[in-house]
Amino acid sequence: MTDRALMERAIEARKMSYSPYSGFKVGAALLGKSGKVYTGCNVENAAYTPTNCAERTAFFKAVSEGEREFVSIAIVGGRYESIADFCAPCGICRQVMAEFCDKNFRIIMGNLDNIQVSTLEELLPLSFGKNDLE
Ligand code: THU
Repeated sequence: MTDRALMERAIEARKMSYSPYSGFKVGAALLGKSGKVYTGCNVENAAYTPTNCAERTAFFKAVSEGEREFVSIAIVGGRYESIADFCAPCGICRQVMAEFCDKNFRIIMGNLDNIQVSTLEELLPLSFGKNDLE
């Protein structure tokens, strides 16, 4: 699967965003090592803190369906109907990625006109992980 094809899946997933409080809609598409794609959107809440980001929605769907190894994730965001040039994952989502992904996991950001790719190691250096608990 190409980065562009995964970004297209994220744009489609973004349409399901439940974001009445921020108006910021995010979509994510996560590629598992099995080849299966898991999509997610942000799901907000009137109490604010229960809000779940699009990336974590995708991860939790995947893990709950038995997939634990991943290749890449595409992320797209923007207010209301507009798609932003760039939407980076929040710190909590980066930590969730670090639970299941190695340092070379690819994070694909932007939109169909401009795609930027970073590795998890670049976005979460010196991370705390399961190895630290051994
Ligand atoms: N959000 C995501 O879903 N993913 C990100 O990477 C950044 C932020 C959501 C959370 C909230 O619903 C809205 O965007 C505004 O922060």
